[in-house]
Amino acid sequence: MTMTKRMHLISFNMHSPINHSVMSWADPEDERLEGLASFDHWKHLARTLERGRFDAMFFADTPGGFDRYKDSFDDYVRYGVCWPCHDPMALAGVMLAETKHLGLAVTLSTSGTYPYMTVRRLSTLDYISGGRVGWNIVSGHLRGEHRALGVPQLEHDERYDHADEYMEICHALWNGVKPGAIKADKQRGIYADPAQVDVVAFAGQHFNCRAVPPTLPSAQGRPVLFQAGSSGRGQQFAMKHADVVFAIQPRLKEMANFVKKLGEAAAAAGRDAAPKVVFGVQCILGGTEAEARRIQAEMTERIPLDAALSRMSGTLGMDFSKMDLDQPLSGNDTQASRGMLQMLANLTGDGNSTIRDAAKVFGASTGMTQIVGTPEQVADRLEELWRESGCHGFNMTPATNIRSVEDFVDQVVPLLQKKGIFRREYESTTLSGNLAN
Ligand SMILES: Cc1cc2nc3c(=O)[nH]c(=O)nc-3n(C[C@H](O)[C@H](O)[C@H](O)COP(=O)(O)O)c2cc1C
Repeated sequence: MTMTKRMHLISFNMHSPINHSVMSWADPEDERLEGLASFDHWKHLARTLERGRFDAMFFADTPGGFDRYKDSFDDYVRYGVCWPCHDPMALAGVMLAETKHLGLAVTLSTSGTYPYMTVRRLSTLDYISGGRVGWNIVSGHLRGEHRALGVPQLEHDERYDHADEYMEICHALWNGVKPGAIKADKQRGIYADPAQVDVVAFAGQHFNCRAVPPTLPSAQGRPVLFQAGSSGRGQQFAMKHADVVFAIQPRLKEMANFVKKLGEAAAAAGRDAAPKVVFGVQCILGGTEAEARRIQAEMTERIPLDAALSRMSGTLGMDFSKMDLDQPLSGNDTQASRGMLQMLANLTGDGNSTIRDAAKVFGASTGMTQIVGTPEQVADRLEELWRESGCHGFNMTPATNIRSVEDFVDQVVPLLQKKGIFRREYESTTLSGNLAN
């Protein structure tokens, strides 16, 4: 089993009342609702993650709502299922300014946005932060996103063709300022040599762009590229563009298989190295295992089925109010997230999970493996998943904010450090440098 030298940890968040656990805003300990209107909440979170030597914070984002269930927004709004969905970019600058090493990855969709603007927004932050920004490239699987923006929703595979073209422009803009281009010669009054700054002239099927790069290359060149599509076409896209693939798999066996398959695909595609894989997980800590299990049970019991189905209908692009919940989820096809559909249909390991089972798991953690127990148990399990799957690390969604993050940093990180598998100090000041090995 190949093994990276160190485990890498990313903290998963959304600028919304919840991350990946429906109704977590209603937990008496959760501070998210206050956090929506407070820079201090996010600054404190950034400092806590840096104290815990996390590689980065990762903002998931769904810029449109879940409108599939009962063909309505009602349950999405009623239960605060990622509604409101505030813009993560507003917080990215604040959190980067509050820290010196912590990376910050932001999700931006290639649907309804322009490549030039995306490069401008992300690379401005990447440049000013000294190379600490990542981009989670998503192609927009939600109907609600397209309806909100008033743009047509392309079919699944075509969305990736569209995104491939999008990326061609981004790379041309990122590579367009040559190393000696900036003169900054105050005496001669010359800022830059135009001969060393490309004019990008792109005319494609979906996009046109004629521009010089809007920003300077950062200390890491361009943002680190994350990608989370796990269908066949999604993985082809990842082979071409991703530095890091972020995936959800329910068990160790599927995690190991995912890493192996991705490695094979990378070799077949002629890549020097496979994308680094990070798996989504949720750690639920308690003073004893029984206490941790009680907390997990309370979280699960709080979730109305309608709220879970509202989110799952949105993500899978089908209206589960019209379907028998005790039928297997498999056998359906979708133009939304095929990767998530496959993963949820196989929660039981035999491909026979029912819609109801899948909704319960999806509502609790969107299918991310929950690791429940004492700090020692959680540290041991993380080590086992990391060693046995061959993954690079984990993207961890907190159960409550920010208590779960603080507890993890104070109680689990020291154990991982003691095992010698997690850094005590940052290796680099850039995100790509810290993620490197
Ligand atoms: C782990 C994971 C995280 C994702 N995060 C987001 C996100 O934050 N925003 C979004 O719009 N889509 C997100 N997606 C959706 C994917 O980017 C992709 O569009 C979708 O899964 C459809 O692609 P696929 O069929 O290739 O899996 C995520 C998917 C996965 C599996």
